[in-house]
Amino acid sequence: MTSYEAIFRRRSIRKYKNDEISPAMLEKIEKFGEDAIGIRPDIQVKWKIFHKEEHQLKGLFRVDAPYYVVLYSEICEDYRKNAGCLMEQLSLYLFTKGIGSCYQGGAKLKKDQEKDLELVMIMAFGYPAEPLERSYEDFRRIELKKLVTIRGAFGKVQRKLLEAARLAPSAMNRQPWRFVSSEDRIHLFVKKPGKLGYQTQQDFNLFDAGVALSHMLVTAEDQWFDLEYQKLDSILEKEFQNYVYVGSLLILNDSEKI
Ligand SMILES: Cc1cc2nc3c(=O)[nH]c(=O)nc-3n(C[C@H](O)[C@H](O)[C@H](O)COP(=O)(O)O)c2cc1C
Repeated sequence: MTSYEAIFRRRSIRKYKNDEISPAMLEKIEKFGEDAIGIRPDIQVKWKIFHKEEHQLKGLFRVDAPYYVVLYSEICEDYRKNAGCLMEQLSLYLFTKGIGSCYQGGAKLKKDQEKDLELVMIMAFGYPAEPLERSYEDFRRIELKKLVTIRGAFGKVQRKLLEAARLAPSAMNRQPWRFVSSEDRIHLFVKKPGKLGYQTQQDFNLFDAGVALSHMLVTAEDQWFDLEYQKLDSILEKEFQNYVYVGSLLILNDSEKI
């Protein structure tokens, strides 16, 4: 199975077997993380994988799993988006190996110091003790037409990219993203942080944006679409009431003709 296929079958796993993952597989997982390319390869990140007995977690909505992976990042513009984009690639890769995972947005490590880096996200993983997959019909997601504003032609390339983004996981399944699609580009926006409860404390919208971007980049790689991620000055200059501009994917070739 490919990471692209995983997009249409994955689900968060919250029940795990205690089975060990082989050292060779753990090494592959580590290497995959290190080699993954996000939207900003220049941002310094660090991965750490540990067995549950090595560290204690604290915080809300924790899932008990045999393994956890932690992603630390340099704090700079785009770092949350970049981290979401990297970690979702790892999550899809794990799925292709029969390993389940679940983001732990509310969790922290009891000891988590990494000089000059911020702990952006923890993800639980291990062999599942519940179904690893679900069918396409069982995804609880907002319909594409409610997420996308279409300006101009809407072809196969746009549909494939946006359908993959629509299925992306997000904190509390809030699906904070919205898209504007035109003939040769897709602009991505996410909701501004909420004013109530959990949303004010834990703003994961930019991390979620990175997760959705990774689904589009994985799709592009699989389907041979050439994309370029850019933040366009013409949109950055604009002020939006409820949304933040994340960036745009420029569609560089017309792969539909191949
Ligand atoms: C940034 C982020 C943080 C999340 N935090 C948690 C969490 O703390 N605990 C949890 O059980 N699930 C967490 N999730 C998983 C979401 O609840 C889940 O992805 C969403 O409900 C969609 O379900 P699915 O992943 O099965 O498609 C998180 C997901 C994301 C993307």
